[in-house]
Amino acid sequence: MLLIQMTGLSGAGKSTLANRVKQLLQQEGIEVSVVDGDEYRKTLCADLGFSKEDRCENIRRLGRVADALCRKGAVAIIAAINPYQQVREEMTNRYNARTVFIQCPIPVLIERDTKGLYKRALQAQNTPGSISNLTGINDTYEAPSAPDLMLDTSRLTAHTAAEQLTAFIKQQLLLRHPQQLQRLI
Ligand code: ADX
Repeated sequence: MLLIQMTGLSGAGKSTLANRVKQLLQQEGIEVSVVDGDEYRKTLCADLGFSKEDRCENIRRLGRVADALCRKGAVAIIAAINPYQQVREEMTNRYNARTVFIQCPIPVLIERDTKGLYKRALQAQNTPGSISNLTGINDTYEAPSAPDLMLDTSRLTAHTAAEQLTAFIKQQLLLRHPQQLQRLI
């Protein structure tokens, strides 16, 4: 029905937001599936690391999963860092995906550091457990130049961000499926 590809750094709030939006839309009878990078990296994408090639392959696989869910009538939200413009464009062209940029300044992410990854990336590279390829610190993040929606989670409450994304998705659905969705107006 509709494929949303999120993009944003680790800890920006992609999964949290996607799951809140899922709850909100399901209350209105709209089926939503969250295709979460962290989850799929334990299963379908367990063979992939964090090189550019592997990150791109990760998104392509998540795209195929999300597309299958969309064909069954769901809104599928890919919640992954999705750092490369080229692959995001592939998703847009192949699946007519909409791009939602979940923005958050790096100092705020370092402060939050829910998974402890930023600390590990910022420590001396010969320290045990240090990370040499954390997106935004010592690996590439290509911010989207023209996202369809941008939400800054350092400025918005989780509630407001979820409401804004929900409204955006409903608007997109109305544009694509006006007859089926008139009840949402
Ligand atoms: S993506 O770059 O291929 O889109 P994806 O969203 O699937 O990444 O996975 C990112 C998650 O993997 C992060 O939220 C974090 O929990 C974990 N992770 C572990 N190492 C790294 C790393 N070097 N860079 C980014 N994320 C990492």
